[in-house]
Amino acid sequence: MNTVKTVRELRAAVARARGEGKRIAFVPTMGNLHSGHAALVTKAAQRADFVVASIFVNPLQFGAGEDLDKYPRTLAADQERLLQAGCHLLFAPTVEEMYPDGMSVQTRVSVPHLSEGLCGASRPGHFEGVATVVSKLFNMVQPDLAVFGEKDFQQLAVIRAMVRDLNMPVQIIGEPTVRAEDGLALSSRNGYLTPEQRAAAPALYRTLSGMAEALRRGQRDYAALIAGGEAQLEAAGMRKDYLEVRHAVTLRPAQLDDRDLVVIAAAYLGNTRLIDNLYLHLETPSA
Ligand code: PAF
Repeated sequence: MNTVKTVRELRAAVARARGEGKRIAFVPTMGNLHSGHAALVTKAAQRADFVVASIFVNPLQFGAGEDLDKYPRTLAADQERLLQAGCHLLFAPTVEEMYPDGMSVQTRVSVPHLSEGLCGASRPGHFEGVATVVSKLFNMVQPDLAVFGEKDFQQLAVIRAMVRDLNMPVQIIGEPTVRAEDGLALSSRNGYLTPEQRAAAPALYRTLSGMAEALRRGQRDYAALIAGGEAQLEAAGMRKDYLEVRHAVTLRPAQLDDRDLVVIAAAYLGNTRLIDNLYLHLETPSA
C-alpha cells in the first residue's frame, strides 16, 4: 500500500489503476482506525479492484470548542490496519493541501433539511463541513463507489442526498455498524472514555434496542417511548443531546403509518459525545 500526501500524486496513482481497467472504491476517514473502519475497507475491496482510503481530520466540520485539537492522530497504526484490510492507496493530505487558499474562502457544499436537525442542531455547520470535504475528496479520487458507516446515519443520508442532487457519478454504499461485545458502537471517540464511563456506555445501545423492540411489538406512542428512553439514559449517567424516532429516509419525525424507522440518539458521558442508531423496517404500517 502506498501513502501519498498530495492531490497530484493521488491523481497519478488512481489514473494508473484506471489505466489497468480497475474499478475504484473509496473509503474516507479521519483516521484512528478501528474494526469498524476495517469493515468499510473490506466491503470496498469486495466491490472493486483498487481501494483508496483517505485520512484527514477535517477542521471544517469541527465547531468551536469541539475536539479538533485532541482528535487522535495515529498514522502508523492506521497504515498497518488499512494494509491488513486490503487497501491499496492511502491519501493523507495536510490541511494546506486540502484548503490551499484557507478555509474562509473555500466554496461550500450545503445540503438543506437533512443537515438541520439531530446532530446538525447541536453541531451547526458540521454537515456543511462534511459535505464540502467529501465532495472535494470525490473530485480528487473520482471513485466508482464509496463506502460509509451506518453509525453516522445522518451523515450517510446527507451524502446520499448530495450525490443525488449534484449528479455525482459515485455509488454510495452503507456498511452496518460494528459493535463491541457489549453493544457499544465502535468509534474513535470511545477512546476518550474513562473505564467507568466505558462501562456505562453500552446503555446507549441497550436503550435504542429496547425502543426498537417496543416498536416491533406495536408500540406507537413515540413520545412515551422517547420519554422512557431518556429516563434510561439518565439512569446510566448519560446526558441526552437528542433521542428520536424518525423516518429512516427523510429523517422527519416518525408518523404513525411509517414503515422505515430509525431510532437515533446522541448522548454525553462526561465531555464525550456518543452517537448511535438502529434502523428498523416494520412489515406492516405502524398504524
Ligand atoms: O465520518 C467521518 O469520518 C468523516 O465525517 C468523513 C466522512 C471522513 C469526512 O471528514
